Amino acid sequence: MAEFKLPANSIVMTGKTVKAPAGATNIKKFIVYRYDPDTGENPHTDTYEVDMDNCGPMVLDGLLKIKDEMDSTVALRRSCREGICGSCSMNIDGRNTLACTKAIDDIEGDVKIYPLPHQPVIKDLVSDLTNFYAQYASVKPWMSTDAAVPPDRERLQSKEDREKLDGLYECILCACCSTSCPSYWWNSDRYLGPAALLNSYRWIADSRDENTGERLDELEDTFKLYRCHTIMSCTDSCPKGLNPAKSIAEIKRLMVKRKS
Ligand code: SF4
Ligand code: SF4
Ligand code: FES
Repeated sequence: MAEFKLPANSIVMTGKTVKAPAGATNIKKFIVYRYDPDTGENPHTDTYEVDMDNCGPMVLDGLLKIKDEMDSTVALRRSCREGICGSCSMNIDGRNTLACTKAIDDIEGDVKIYPLPHQPVIKDLVSDLTNFYAQYASVKPWMSTDAAVPPDRERLQSKEDREKLDGLYECILCACCSTSCPSYWWNSDRYLGPAALLNSYRWIADSRDENTGERLDELEDTFKLYRCHTIMSCTDSCPKGLNPAKSIAEIKRLMVKRKS
């Protein structure tokens, strides 16, 4: 009978526990993924007992308390603390989301925190999103027009045309959607993923953009667009309540429409 054995570095071991201060009575355990590729050591999780009587309400508050008061070596990204910059995206309690808008009280039991799935890890909770940003840049996320000379005033848009951008322009490029998509996990070198496709559609849907045909030509590819199998994990995971799967479906619809 065949015997399968996991490679040694595929197992996430349990590491140290940092206790809450003496006298703390309202404690929540944060179990945090730790990995530093430069050390050559296996990944592991460390446990931090956070005194919730002296901590803000969000998971990011807990992580910053850990970093400031318990273990300064924990690496994470954050900036705005209010769901706008997209930099604190990570996997919390089994779901991709923003640490700054995820309430600790909404998590039953220990708070388990990992980096975004299926991305290279730079350190701990910091993912390498180089490929993700390159894919975003590849859809030319800016207005493209044929005019050789720009107009001398702003390009106007009707109220109805402007409303077509609602649900698209709000994307903060947190990567929660793309890194929760199974198709993206296995083909992220060639499949653009839901975030880049939503942002491509944001310009396709813009009445002021004049290069819809070229944009669709660029996406007409077995991998770039058609690796989406409408599994919907992307929409389910978007912390801004956007619907990338719908944008992808709209692009596919336009592809069919222009051939008929
Ligand atoms: S709907 Fe498409 S993009 Fe969204 S998770 Fe599924 S396969 Fe990925
Ligand atoms: S669509 Fe939502 S989940 Fe995806 S990158 Fe934009 S804000 Fe993040
Ligand atoms: S810190 Fe900016 S979105 Fe969380």
